[in-house]
Amino acid sequence: MSSPALPDTDAPGAFDAAALRQDFPILAQEVNGQRLVYLDSGATSQKPRQVLQAEYDFLTTANAAVHRGAHSLAAAATDLFEDARETVSTFVGARPEQLVWTSGATLGLNLVAYAIGNATIGRGAPASARFALAPGDEIVTTAIEHHANLIPWQELAARTGAVLRHIPVHDDGTLDMDAAAELIGERTRIVAFTHVSNVLGIVNPVRELVALAQAVGALTVLDACQSAPHMRLDLPALGVDLAVFSGHKMLGPYGVGGLYGRSEVLEALPPFLTGGSMITSVTLDEAGYLPPPQRFEAGTQPVGPAVGLAAAVRYLEGVGLDRIHAHEVRLAERMHAGLSTIDGIRLLGDAPGAERVGLWSFDVDGVHAHDAGQFLDARGIAVRVGHHCAAPLHRRFGMTASVRASLALYNTDEDVDTFLDAVAGIRPYFGADA
Ligand SMILES: Cc1ncc(COP(=O)(O)O)c(C=O)c1O
Repeated sequence: MSSPALPDTDAPGAFDAAALRQDFPILAQEVNGQRLVYLDSGATSQKPRQVLQAEYDFLTTANAAVHRGAHSLAAAATDLFEDARETVSTFVGARPEQLVWTSGATLGLNLVAYAIGNATIGRGAPASARFALAPGDEIVTTAIEHHANLIPWQELAARTGAVLRHIPVHDDGTLDMDAAAELIGERTRIVAFTHVSNVLGIVNPVRELVALAQAVGALTVLDACQSAPHMRLDLPALGVDLAVFSGHKMLGPYGVGGLYGRSEVLEALPPFLTGGSMITSVTLDEAGYLPPPQRFEAGTQPVGPAVGLAAAVRYLEGVGLDRIHAHEVRLAERMHAGLSTIDGIRLLGDAPGAERVGLWSFDVDGVHAHDAGQFLDARGIAVRVGHHCAAPLHRRFGMTASVRASLALYNTDEDVDTFLDAVAGIRPYFGADA
């Protein structure tokens, strides 16, 4: 397998995104007659050749059902699948048995919410009772969550009589930690929050939130979708009980993601999906369940995508997470400097000095986000427009939609400058600058 097109020096500033770009075949194309400037990696990242090759190699040399079957191909497939688990779990600082494969972050969060619902109705081993919710118990989330880390908790609250509460956000996009300290109290059983908002790009104070939750014995659930591809992650060191991430946002394939859990939490959690591959013994009336992670992996797993995700993680590690982070932050600062000089642009989450990843969402005064998006698309620039699955956050900031430009390791200074030139033309084009 070929390695990433690494720059030939480790000197600061030598990050060669233009060379990395060559690994991403899709970026070579023109869109609407223009060089493609892909600024929508927050929605889904592009995939390097190495990931496509890993999936291709798996499917053409080792494809078979894993964990069953006595034939050689099945053994080879199982080895690759479990090697992938080891690679991806190490990437987030965890051990293989602490990583459950999911189809993505949405499934991971629903898995946790439904497993807790099952514990609430008495399912699972005696240890599962620690997760049971009673009417009036509180689930605390935040006002800035992606719908994937909000609606499963709304549903769990509705099923159990628990009460959902939200940590508010300041005007500058930072979480109101004073309010958090007041909200997280004796009745709090779960605190679910995002590491990095997919709209604001600010890195939230995970350790502080974990400390507040631990002080009252609440379970913590972290949405690491927008941090995993962009900064070094050590989930055990962050102290969270459970965390999710999505393969397709971190250079990997669609249909695969991870749920990390502290061992004692996963061991006590009852299953959500049930069926084949997660049982010890089955009679017509009942079944016994395997320990984690298999307990949470009912049915046929995304084996090829898991192998592809391992290749994606090796690619990210090959470039270096710290270097990726520094590169993306530098580009985001360039973007910020440029956007700040354009009349009528209102940036969301522009908290001075906040730790950030490389994304900016903004409103263009007098122009709907969808019009701005089409204008940029005509110039070959792909951004996300709408509420980005965070409608309550947009409502909080008095808007229904914004434009989001999100960066990845393959973006260049040229991408940012092309984008800034184009954004400067939006309001004049629509006559909104009059
Ligand atoms: C912060 C955050 N959480 C959760 C998700 C859901 O991820 P997926 O759709 O891959 O399950 C996303 C995707 O946009 C996200 O940005």
